[in-house]
Amino acid sequence: MPDQSGLSRLDALKAESSNTRETPDVLRCIACGSADSGKSILISRLLSESRPGKRSFIVADIPGDEQSTPNMVTGASAADLAIVLIDAREGVMPQTRRHTTILSLLGIRHVILAINKMDLVAWSRTVYDGIAGVYRDFAKQLDVTCIPVSALTGDNVIEPSTAMGWYRGPTLLQALESADVATNRERAPFRMPVQRVNQSDDESRVFTGTIASGLVHPGDPVLVCPAHTPSTVSRIVTADGDLACARPGQDVTLTLADDIDVIPGDVIASTTHPPGRSDQFACHLIWMHEKALLPKRSYLLKIGTHVAGAQITALKYKLNVESLERVAAKTLELNDIAYCNIGLDRQIAFDPYRDLKETGGFILIDRNTHATVGTGMIDFALRRASNLTRQKLTVDKPARSAQKNQKACVVWLTGLSGAGKSTTANAVEQRLHALGRHSYVLDGDNLRHGLTKDLGFTPVDRVENVRRIAEVAKLFVDAGLIVLVSVISPFRDEREMARRMMEEGEFIEVFVDAPLEVCERRDPKGLYRKARAGEIKNFTGIDSPYEPPESPDIVLKTGERSVDELADQVIAYLRARVAQAEQ
Ligand code: ADX
Repeated sequence: MPDQSGLSRLDALKAESSNTRETPDVLRCIACGSADSGKSILISRLLSESRPGKRSFIVADIPGDEQSTPNMVTGASAADLAIVLIDAREGVMPQTRRHTTILSLLGIRHVILAINKMDLVAWSRTVYDGIAGVYRDFAKQLDVTCIPVSALTGDNVIEPSTAMGWYRGPTLLQALESADVATNRERAPFRMPVQRVNQSDDESRVFTGTIASGLVHPGDPVLVCPAHTPSTVSRIVTADGDLACARPGQDVTLTLADDIDVIPGDVIASTTHPPGRSDQFACHLIWMHEKALLPKRSYLLKIGTHVAGAQITALKYKLNVESLERVAAKTLELNDIAYCNIGLDRQIAFDPYRDLKETGGFILIDRNTHATVGTGMIDFALRRASNLTRQKLTVDKPARSAQKNQKACVVWLTGLSGAGKSTTANAVEQRLHALGRHSYVLDGDNLRHGLTKDLGFTPVDRVENVRRIAEVAKLFVDAGLIVLVSVISPFRDEREMARRMMEEGEFIEVFVDAPLEVCERRDPKGLYRKARAGEIKNFTGIDSPYEPPESPDIVLKTGERSVDELADQVIAYLRARVAQAEQ
């Protein structure tokens, strides 16, 4: 399409590519190796060697200690190539294997294995061959170049070594300059995760984001995903004027020809190769937090610009990063690498990580602290969910509640064992019953004889216990009942999850508040005595934590009031709630 200056689109593209691109040949490397492997000398030797007209390097230096997985993940997901350093006297270390596994998971294909300190092993070819063989065997799926070097003397770093005449391969610098790591982000299908949606001066909506992959031009047909709504790009706006083409890494604002629904988190994508859409995935997960993963706990998942609620629905296995053996796991600790299924609370647009890192990689975030707790790589979508639909029923919650002449809700009693939850729930239900209300009590102890029979008292099991009970409570609320839940529910996160599952105002959190000493003195079931004697493990308040509510709707001081007074307090709250709703 010739424009006024007579340039074809191709010419414009070329012109623009030479104007707006950074130095075309920058190689992004990540260097891994323990602190005393000689890494810093090696890196400084390399970086001091800038040759005009040649490729230049950006090197992310990753410390070798165990705690650095987050740094490693950040460094490796942005790198084209990895330099793995080994001390020739030590050979392949557990750390080397662990780093290599992570590199491979994060999609690094090309590794340069620098076998350093060759001067300290008398430049021995046998030592070199031995180490190179072991490493190649471990890193079969990677493209590995092995180089014997001495960072100290400089042998094979920039210039070929005279001491190791037996080695005919490239020096480290040559290997870096010639490595074929052409990333095809430009040739990959177009993806732009939408960061912001704004109204432009002429009232049309504009969509801002960073291009993750592919090229885009005005006139290109696109799909807005995950809805897959078709449209056409009308303009590519930047601070420096409109573009005829935009490429990966550029921050742009797109306008579309149609007035369609686009929200931040959507992905504007190529129509010929659109991203997939699902809410269930099989993925690799690297756990990056001191606080262990609790499968079934609800986390936030951020992929591109999209944030969704997420749960690990199945922990398939944990990887022994040294032997690559698959090990069964119930939870994940800091630095663990696992393969798992993950379920989201909505459909998202995605690509498998191996196809596109930008739209296939995600992080998991703790809902309370907002800390990044994990990094994941989507392997494939599980089709299960897409074949399930929701049946719409004609008799619904309002109809069922109205027939019972009440407003359905959950009264969620949380507190230590022996605090008085069940006693209070029982008294409240008696009053409701006398008032002609329809209710049901879900009692933790009772449910453990059936619904939750398979669960124990580890944190992992308690998360699942509360999740299951909350799901049942939700069904009973849907049935129009006033549900009294009486379970320790020691974790704030799961009580918040239960609250999110219900409609606004439907979840009433009651803190049954009695000091541990009081509960222990009461000890109605003799369990505290057993726990103190070490006969029961993971007992709440003794060797398992209880997180009191931060802002409960009702606080019941069971040490100070009679059961009747407490039940009245709850009934009064419920009456006030109904009165307020009727106003
Ligand atoms: S929760 O923590 O998962 O919410 P739930 O309310 O279902 O607990 O069950 C608690 C009841 O199980 C207690 O009232 C007590 O009778 C019994 N129990 C047995 N072992 C334990 C334990 N280790 N910690 C707490 N309660 C226990």
